[in-house]
Amino acid sequence: MNKTDFYDPIFYDAGVGDTFNESRLDFYFSKISSPQRILDIGAGTGRVAIPLVLGKNCVTCIDMSQSMIDTINSKKSVLPYDLRNNLTTICSPFEKNPNTDPAFKMDTIVAVDDFVLHYRTIECLDKFFEDTRSWLKAGGKLLTDVRTRRNSKLNEHSQKPFILNALGYVEDVNTEFGTKTIMTYYYEIFDKINRNLNTICQYHYVGDKGLTEVIKHTELIQRMHTNNEIVASAEKNGFVVKDIKHESEENLPDDETWGMFEMILDA
Ligand SMILES: C[S@@+](CC[C@H](N)C(=O)[O-])C[C@H]1O[C@@H](n2cnc3c(N)ncnc32)[C@H](O)[C@@H]1O
Repeated sequence: MNKTDFYDPIFYDAGVGDTFNESRLDFYFSKISSPQRILDIGAGTGRVAIPLVLGKNCVTCIDMSQSMIDTINSKKSVLPYDLRNNLTTICSPFEKNPNTDPAFKMDTIVAVDDFVLHYRTIECLDKFFEDTRSWLKAGGKLLTDVRTRRNSKLNEHSQKPFILNALGYVEDVNTEFGTKTIMTYYYEIFDKINRNLNTICQYHYVGDKGLTEVIKHTELIQRMHTNNEIVASAEKNGFVVKDIKHESEENLPDDETWGMFEMILDA
């Protein structure tokens, strides 16, 4: 299992499992004054890109998953006719697609919902910031976020028995096995040494009779970069951190994983 299969566009749009907390999206929209040229890295089903296009921005979406890109493309047809050309898609791993056209630079880049945690070493994280430089104009903005993971919580997932969590159920999901209710469970295994977090999800497809008919497993490993590591990597690659937010007023230690980041590419 790899991250291309981990995210299912139908589940994503239906809200199955652990979809992103919508209130965090306010951070992104509050930092973008339209119209702009925007790159959405790991764009998924276009949850951020589509509202940005409706807000008169020109958005290029890049995602390594063909099914995610197909889903965004299918949403083009519901956009007002005059805005359809404002949405472009690229199917590729971001790190394999640095921008080579100096005339095609972005005002803003967004990498929403734990995107940088897909890079599992500091070297790969450095390369992410280096690659964003190729896409961004001088003085341009990079917005990204990681969900809050306190070290104490992560450490609870470092030894057996691993804690099984339920993420509730969603009815009437249009799956390849027909319309089903999907019940989601997951557990996490945290490796304290390298800060890798392995998330194992189990989806139960429940039919009309209330019986589980199919169970599917997915697995994703991400590295829980700390706030310190993210800032250091960005600064090393020419970004100035302008703002870091957290949903609560609580002061969190920088050696933990948290933050909504606004970074400016030094001119
Ligand atoms: C958690 S989803 C987020 C989707 C979207 N940003 C949102 O908030 O709705 C992560 C997305 O990143 C994509 N992805 C993961 N690693 C990637 C990479 N290296 N390059 C491009 N896309 C990647 C996945 O295919 C998936 O669609």
